[in-house]
Amino acid sequence: MKLTRALAGAAVLSLCLLLAVQPEAVAAAAAGGKVESTVRTEVVKAIRADPSVGPALIRLVFHDCWVNGCDGSVLLDTTPFNSSAGVEKAAANNIGLRGFDVIDAIKAKLGDSVSCADIVVLAGRDAAAILSRGRITYAVETGRKDGVVSSAAAADATLPESTFHIDQLTDNFARKNFTAEELVALAGAHAVGVSHLSSFRDRINATTRTPIDPRYQAALAGDVEALKGRQNSTDPIEKFNIRDMDAGFRNASGFDAAGVDMAAVGVLDNSFYHANLQNMVLLRSDWELRNGTDPSLSDSLFAFRDNATVWEMEFAAAMAKLSELPAEGTRFEIRKSCRATN
Ligand code: HEM
Repeated sequence: MKLTRALAGAAVLSLCLLLAVQPEAVAAAAAGGKVESTVRTEVVKAIRADPSVGPALIRLVFHDCWVNGCDGSVLLDTTPFNSSAGVEKAAANNIGLRGFDVIDAIKAKLGDSVSCADIVVLAGRDAAAILSRGRITYAVETGRKDGVVSSAAAADATLPESTFHIDQLTDNFARKNFTAEELVALAGAHAVGVSHLSSFRDRINATTRTPIDPRYQAALAGDVEALKGRQNSTDPIEKFNIRDMDAGFRNASGFDAAGVDMAAVGVLDNSFYHANLQNMVLLRSDWELRNGTDPSLSDSLFAFRDNATVWEMEFAAAMAKLSELPAEGTRFEIRKSCRATN
C-alpha cells in the first residue's frame, strides 16, 4: 500500500516536472491524443458504414509491416516510374487487400504531419478493438516514416502463403523473430473477414485437401458453387468463420458450438480455435497449425480455445510487436498522399 502511494506520488511529481521542463513534450502528447482520436473516429465511421472493412484494416497491418517493416509501402499505387516491377498491391499474396480508401480518408483529416505508416498501424489497432467489442487493446508508438519503395516481388517472397506447410509457416515467422505461439495467436485474426476461393480451393479438392471435416467440406463445396452465381465470379469470396455461416450450413457441417458465443457474428474472438480443432477452417495454412512437432503449437491452440482472455492478451501483444517492426529502407518521408511518394 505504502509502495503504491509512493509510486503514485512519484508519477505526479514526474508529470509536474515534465509540465515545468518540457512543454513541447506535453504538446506532443496532446497532439498524439488528437491523432489517435481522429483515427478512432474515422475507423468507427468506416466500420459502421461497412463492417467488412474492419478485418481488412487488421490485415493491412500484417501486410504492411511484414514486408520491409511498417513503412506504408503496401499503400503505394502503380505509377509510370514503378509499374514495370509492380507494387506490393499487385502481389499474388496480396489478393483481396482492401481498406485503402479508409486510410485515405484518415490521411485527409490528419494532413502532412502524420505518416501513412502510423495511420495503418493505428487504424488496424482500432479495428481490432472495435471488432473485439473492446476486449483487444494495446498501445503503439507513433513517429514512423513512410518508405519510398514498394515491390510485388518482395511481398510475394516475404508474406506467407495459404498453401504453406507448418514448417514453412514457422520458418516464415521465425525470420521476423516471431514464435510458434505468436503465429498461432495471430492466425486467430481469421475469425473475421473473407477469403477468395482461389486461396482455399485446395481444401475442397478431393486430391489436394488436408484433413478437413467431410461434412464441412461438402457444405463448403456446395456453398462456393452457389456463391459463384450470387457474386457472378469464378473466384467468389467466402466467410472465414463457420460460426458466422447460416444455421443450414452449420447444421450440415455438424459444428459443435460448445463454448462459442453464437450471437457474436462478425466479432473478433477465439472462435477460430474452436473451429480449427474441429477441422473446420478455410485455409490449409490455418489447419497446418495442428500439424507441427513443436508442442507449443498445439498447446497454444487448446489454450486459446479454452481461455478467451489468454488469447486476447496474446493476440494484442503480438499485434503490438507486429506494429513495431522497423522500416528497412534507406530513404523516408511523410507522404502527402498515401498512394504516392512525394
Ligand atoms: C499465418 C500466415 C497467414 C496466411 C497464410 C494468411 C493468408 C490469408 C489469406 C489467403 C487471406 C484471404 C485472401 C483472399 O483470398 O482474399 C487472408 C485474409 C485475412 N488475413 Fe491472413 N494470413 C496469415 C496471417 C494473418 C495474420 C498474422 C493476420 C493478422 C494481422 C491476418 C489477418 C487476416 C484478415 C483479418 C483477413 C481477412 C481480410 C478481409 O476480410 O479483407 N492474417 N489471410
